[in-house]
Amino acid sequence: MLSQGVITAAYIGSSILFILALGGLSSQESSKRGNYYGMAGMLLALVATVFGVVTGNFWILAIAMIAGAVVGLILAAKVQMTQMPELVAILHSMVGLAAVLVGYATFLDHSHPLEGVEKTIHSIEIYLGILIGGLTFSGSVIAYLKLSAKIGGKPLMLPARHWLNLSLGIGAIVVGYLFVTQSAGGEGMTPLLIMTAIALVFGIHMVMAIGGADMPVVVSMLNSYSGWAAAATGFMLGNDLLIVVGALVGSSGAILSYIMCRAMNRKFFAVIAGGFGTPKATAGGASAEIEGDVTPIESNEVVNLLKDAKEVMIIPGYGMAVAQAQHSVRELVGKLRAEGINVRFGIHPVAGRMPGHMNVLLAEAKVPYDIVFEMDEINDDFPNVDVSIVIGANDIVNPAALDVPDSPIAGMPVLEPWNGETTIILKRSMATGYAGVQNPLFYKDNSRMLFGDAKDSINSLVKGLD
Ligand code: TAP
Repeated sequence: MLSQGVITAAYIGSSILFILALGGLSSQESSKRGNYYGMAGMLLALVATVFGVVTGNFWILAIAMIAGAVVGLILAAKVQMTQMPELVAILHSMVGLAAVLVGYATFLDHSHPLEGVEKTIHSIEIYLGILIGGLTFSGSVIAYLKLSAKIGGKPLMLPARHWLNLSLGIGAIVVGYLFVTQSAGGEGMTPLLIMTAIALVFGIHMVMAIGGADMPVVVSMLNSYSGWAAAATGFMLGNDLLIVVGALVGSSGAILSYIMCRAMNRKFFAVIAGGFGTPKATAGGASAEIEGDVTPIESNEVVNLLKDAKEVMIIPGYGMAVAQAQHSVRELVGKLRAEGINVRFGIHPVAGRMPGHMNVLLAEAKVPYDIVFEMDEINDDFPNVDVSIVIGANDIVNPAALDVPDSPIAGMPVLEPWNGETTIILKRSMATGYAGVQNPLFYKDNSRMLFGDAKDSINSLVKGLD
C-alpha cells in the first residue's frame, strides 16, 4: 500500500502530465509528444490508484482491467481511420454510463453515513453525476448510430421541441429537489429513476435534433460532457485526480465546441438547447435544381494544367480518408514542388468526420506542416490560385452555404476555390456529401470533374507528371 503522500505526489505528477499532453496536442509538430505525456500520465494515475487507493477486490479489478485492455487493443488494431469518429462517440458513451453506475452504487452504499450539509452536498453530487452521465450516455449512443450511418443523419424536428427541452429541464430541477429532500431521510430511489429517464430522453432528443453538417459540434460537445461526467464521478468517489482530469477534458471540449460553433457560424447556446442550426432550412434548399453543365476532364488534361500552374491549392475532404489517398497526395505534392510549383493545402475546420481529421492524415503521410493552412488563413488567396484540387470534399466547398438562404448548410463558412482560375474536383459520382445538399460548384464554368476513386486519380496524375 502506498502512503497518502506518495499518492498525492503521483496525482499531482499525472495532472501535470495531462496538462502537458493537452498543450502538446495543440499543434501537429508536438502532438506525438503530447500523446506520450498522456500515456505516461495515465500509467502513473493507474499505478497510484491500484496500489494506493484500492483496498480490496483485487481479483475483480484485475479481471476488469485485463478485459478492458484486451477490448481496447482489439478495437485500436481493427479500427479504420474513417471509423474513428464513431469509436470516439461510443467511448464517450462509456464514460457517461460509468458515471451513472458509480452514481447508483454511491447512492446504495450506506457504509459511510453522512448527515446535515455534507449529506446534502453528497446527494447533489450523485444527482448531477447521474444526470450528466445519463445524457452523455444516450446522446453519444445516438451520435454513434448517426456517424456510423446505422440510423439516418437528418435532424429530427419535433414541432414543440424547444418546449420539450424546457419541460425536461424544469422536470429535472423539480425531481432534483425531491431527491435531495428525500435522500436526507434515506429515501430517494424513485426521483433518481425518474431523473435518469429524463436525462436519457434529453440526450436522445438533443442529438436526434441535430444533423447533417452540424454533427461536428455535437461530437465535440459530447466530448466536453464526458469530461464533466468524469469530474462528477471524481466527486462521488472523492478522487481528486478524476475531478482534475474530468475538468480538463470538460473545459477543453467546451473550448473546442466554441471554436467549432464559430467555424460553423452557429450559436453556442443554441447548440446546448438542441435542435439548432436548421430552423429555416427546407427540403427545397437541399434538392433545388442547379443550372449549368458538368464538365468532366481526363487525368492527362489535368497534368497539363498542373504543369502550367504556379500556384496550386489542395482541398482534402472525407473522400481522401475513404480512399486512403494521403500517401499518393504526398507523392503528388513532391512532384509538383520539384517542378517549382507552390503547393498549399486549405483545411476546413469540419472536413472529414472528426476535428483535425485531415491534419492527422496529412501528418501520417509526412506532408510538411508549413504548407498546411487553416481555412481562415488562405480563403482570400484563391484569386491568385491557378489550379485547386478538391480531393473527395463536398460540403466544405459548397457555395450554396453562402448563396442559398434556405439551404441546410446556410451560413456555414466554406472554402472558395471557384474564385481561382480552375477547380478540379476528384470524386466518384455526382453524389451529395454528408449534409445531403447538391453542390453548385460542380456546375461552374471553371470547374472540371475528374471522376473515379481519389487514390486512383491522384496516382494517375503522379504517373502523368513522371
Ligand atoms: P462530404 O461533404 O461528406 O463529401 C465527401 C465526398 O467524398 C462525397 O461527396 C463523396 O462523393 C466523395 N468520396 C467518398 N469516397 C470517395 C473516394 N473513395 N474517392 C473519391 N471521392 C470519394 O465531406 P467534406 O466535404 O469533408 O465535409 C465534411 C462533412 O461531414 C460536413 O458536412 C461536416 O459537417 C460533416 N461532419 C464532420 C465532422 C467533423 S468533426 N469533421 C463530424 C461529423 C460530420 P462520391 O460518393 O461521389 O465519391
